[in-house]
Amino acid sequence: MRPETGEILVSAEQISEKVREMGARITEDYRGERPLLVGILRGAVVVLADLMRHIELQCEIDFMEVSSYGTGTSSSGVVRILKDLEEDLTGRHVLIVEDIIDTGITLSYLRRSLLTRKPASLEFFTLLSKPSRRRVELDVKYVGFEVPDEFVVGYGIDYAGYFRNLKDIYALKPESIGNSDS
Ligand code: IMP
Ligand code: MG
Repeated sequence: MRPETGEILVSAEQISEKVREMGARITEDYRGERPLLVGILRGAVVVLADLMRHIELQCEIDFMEVSSYGTGTSSSGVVRILKDLEEDLTGRHVLIVEDIIDTGITLSYLRRSLLTRKPASLEFFTLLSKPSRRRVELDVKYVGFEVPDEFVVGYGIDYAGYFRNLKDIYALKPESIGNSDS
């Protein structure tokens, strides 16, 4: 328990076990292929780094940074690419790696946008999902944990840029929101 962040929602041990299990599943599912793992900056950096070490295949990584217009805790539906991929997706088996899916708007935009680049396949991995917040239909093949509608931080996930370095995932206390530097 950390006073500034609230209760642990998913512990480092639970994350580590889940990431190992998902890495094994991905290894089986992509057997014989050389997948391209695409981390969505910046939140997915931590989970991508752990996940890739449990994928026992030749694989490559690349990164994209996207931003949805709108205020702090909710997206507006308009997504813009801040940093694009270095790799050509044509004919590649692409696995997008996200930290958390909330409304689903960011990934549904990305799916549409990346499919135009003609990958051989395009799937999604997310460590956390908040199903009760979903506003668009989205088929996510690999989901680590479903979490309630609370604002979470830690293990790559931030509030106003902070808390990404925490080893566990916490539900941020409502009174901390808007007071992140306390
Ligand atoms: P979506 O387009 O609504 O699915 O937004 C997904 C993005 O919103 C994630 O990649 C996060 O950057 C951010 N986000 C959603 N929920 C949370 C949260 O609980 N904590 C921190 N960031 C969040
Ligand atoms: Mg994100």
